[in-house]
Amino acid sequence: MKHDFIENNIGIMIVLIAVVISFGGLAEIPPLFFLNSTTEAVDGLEPLSALELEGRDIYIREGCHVCHTQMIRPFRAETERYGHYTVAGEHVYEHPFLWGSKRTGPDLARVGGRYSDDWHRAHLYNPRDVVPESNMPSFPWLFERSLNPDGITAKMAAMRALGVPYADADLEAAPDALRDRSEADALVAYLQQLGTVLN
Ligand code: HEC
Repeated sequence: MKHDFIENNIGIMIVLIAVVISFGGLAEIPPLFFLNSTTEAVDGLEPLSALELEGRDIYIREGCHVCHTQMIRPFRAETERYGHYTVAGEHVYEHPFLWGSKRTGPDLARVGGRYSDDWHRAHLYNPRDVVPESNMPSFPWLFERSLNPDGITAKMAAMRALGVPYADADLEAAPDALRDRSEADALVAYLQQLGTVLN
């Protein structure tokens, strides 16, 4: 029987398994290369400024993404609370994206502009000062530490290599934008632009 023959010949078995798997791969993967809607920026999307990009790295360093998602799902309960659901084109310049999967605190995908800079500063310094029942940790050290302008040009060049459209002038101006600014300044700048391109 043909089936016995295949099962008793490991070489043929391997080749046939590879053929079957590659059909599955063909059906799943190549269509993604032609789906522009998942890779095209939404209208008006700008790359993060040097200060915002630095703020994003502080957000990652401090583990904000462990308690906060940045992904509003297309359900009524979510869109009523947070605003327009998240679309892929808002995140095409993010490497890596910070959608997250666990909400200890609220989603932050559209928190930009919802509070003043002063509110964010007070909240980061000690969340209980503005939200008495909050159990979010305090981040007072962000106000004492200043940004280091040395690495930002290389960081932006790396982002550009991944497809973020930074101009040469953006890279040249970047170190000056970070001079004499605190980590809190960068983090608040980052938070204030979140989700503002679609509202
Ligand atoms: C241990 C979990 C935890 C971590 C880590 C955490 N948060 Fe929170 N966050 C919360 C909780 C809970 C709330 C809701 C109570 C409040 O507003 O303080 C919150 C609220 C917020 C809000 C207000 C959102 C809104 O819509 O009202 C912002 C902004 C925020 N966090 C930013 C941050 C940033 C930035 C970091 C990292 C520096 C961070 N959080 C780290 C738990 C966390």
